[in-house]
Parts: sequence; C-alpha cells; structure tokens
Amino acid sequence: RGKRAFIAGIADDNGYGWAIAKSLAAAGAEILVGTWVPALNIFETSLRRGKFDESRVLPDGSLMEITKVYPLDAVYDCPEDVPEDVKANKRYAGSSKWTVKEVAESVKEDFGTIDILVHSLANGPEVSKPLLETSRYGYLAAISASSYSYVSLLQHFIPIMNPGGASISLTYIASERIIPGYGGGMSSAKAALESDTKVLAFEAGRKHRVRVNTISAGPLRSRAAKAIGFIDMMIDYSSENAPLMKELSAEEVGNAAAFLASPLASAITGTVLYVDNGLNAMGVGV
Ligand code: NAI
Repeated sequence: RGKRAFIAGIADDNGYGWAIAKSLAAAGAEILVGTWVPALNIFETSLRRGKFDESRVLPDGSLMEITKVYPLDAVYDCPEDVPEDVKANKRYAGSSKWTVKEVAESVKEDFGTIDILVHSLANGPEVSKPLLETSRYGYLAAISASSYSYVSLLQHFIPIMNPGGASISLTYIASERIIPGYGGGMSSAKAALESDTKVLAFEAGRKHRVRVNTISAGPLRSRAAKAIGFIDMMIDYSSENAPLMKELSAEEVGNAAAFLASPLASAITGTVLYVDNGLNAMGVGV
C-alpha cells in the first residue's frame, strides 16, 4: 500500500511544505495537510477555486490530491492550553479541534495511521529585532512555535506512526553561523530544533523504529521568508557565493525530503541534511 504523510505548515503554494507535499505525492504518498488556523479559510478557498491548480501538476501530468486539510495551531497542545481571547477570536471560533493533540486524534479517527510526518512551520514575532533587543516573550514565542511545536507534533503523532516511518523538519544555518537579520530568537529556535533532532532520533528510533531528520534549506522566497525582510539579499548572496551558482528551487528541497522519507534512507536518522547549493561549506564568499 502507498504511504500516508501528514505535512504541518502549508498555507499556500510557495513554501517548502507545498513542495515537499508534491514530491511525496509524486512518489505515491497520500497527502494530509495541517494548516495554521488563521490561514485556513483562504487556503481552502484558493484550493477549491483552482488557484493552485497550475502548481498542483505532478511530473506525470496528474494533479496532486490533498486528501484532507486539518486546521492546526501548533503552539497549543490541548484545549486546556488555549487562552480565552484566542478561543473567542472569530477565525479560531470558526474551526474546531485544532490543538496538536486533537489533530492527531482526528487523523487517527479518519485514517488510523501515518508513515511520514513533516514539520514545515516556524514563527517568531520579533524576528526582525536583533537578539540583543529581543524580549523574553518574543524569544519564548519563537521557541514555542518553531521548536517545541515539533516535539509536540512528534509526541502526539508517534503513537499512530507505522514502524519504519520517518519524520522531517526544516531548519536554517542561522542556528550555527551568524546570519545578521535572522533575529528574535529564531536562530536559537533553529539550534534547539537541530539538537532535538538528535535526541528525538534516539527516542523515536528505539521506541518506535521511526527516523528523525532535519533539512537545512537554503533561502526561498516563501511567505514566511518575505516577512523577515532580507530574503532577496540572501538569495542573491547564495547565487553569488555558493559552489552551485543557481537559485535554489523549493522542488529540490521537496525531493530531498522524499528521499529522507523513503526506504532509500533507511539507515539515516538524527542528521542535518544541507540542501542549499553547498553554501554551508564555504568559509568566505568569493
Ligand atoms: P511558509 O510561510 O510557506 O511556511 C510556514 C508555515 O508555518 C505557514 O504556512 C504558516 O501558516 C505556518 N505557521 C506559523 N505558525 C504556525 C502555528 N502556530 N501553527 C501551525 N502553523 C503555523 O514558509 P517556509 O519558508 O516554506 O517555511 C517552512 C519551514 O522552512 C520553516 O521551518 C522555515 O523556518 C524553514 N526554512 C525556510 C527557509 C526560507 O528561506 N524560506 C530557509 C530555511 C528553512
């Protein structure tokens, strides 16, 4: 039977999550999506109206099918965690069962099990502030949305993951090298995510025979990246300085994720895989 994937963090057709969904679908996987509650309406409407049809085309000419879209807010683990003002918010009140625990329960009810879990989401309210000017609130919010969200997702989904399954997240080299402009504790959040990849690989491997890897991706003009404000500069810098002097396409990251999720990568776990045209290997720009 084909594999089933749950991809958290798709709200349009520009980001890495969408590209990963496409590569997995092209390889025969069934696609389930978790979409941030405030973005759910527009994403579902656009899907229904055919706005993404051009970008749904797979290599064999068919269109990627998304079997189900679940509302998700990965900063809340269970209903008791949700503050009153969020509950009352119109966009949140319009959906239900969007905490991590409830989404995992819904997927279990609907489909029983999954094989592949993808975390392609991040958020840092103070990302445009230097770390030296970041508030405690901003720092902890970045960690909550971008790092703990992954621990929580894996924690709640692993009981319904088939042995031999795989989990993938997306990270950025700002975790280990200085990237001025990637602020608000986002660099710290990516460092946590990469360290957690190792510990979670151990625990998930021993307990459930599930592999855990992260992809350190090069710059992409996604919605989230545009919000940071320096994405065009990072893309130009990479094109000029990386060993491979070309713009990185989301599809290249999607294909690497499909590899990591496949039996071809059956002995690979706990790793950071760079998919960045080799930029990480440079010492100085030339
Ligand atoms: P994106 O905007 O396509 O994806 C981010 C998604 O996170 C959005 O769909 C957003 O709705 C969702 N999200 C935010 N907060 C959420 C929450 N609390 N609960 C559920 N969903 C939430 O942007 P992109 O860039 O494709 O991001 C995907 C991943 O790739 C992120 O982890 C990002 O840090 C990583 N990455 C991006 C790079 C880039 O240059 N775009 C480079 C390296 C890594």
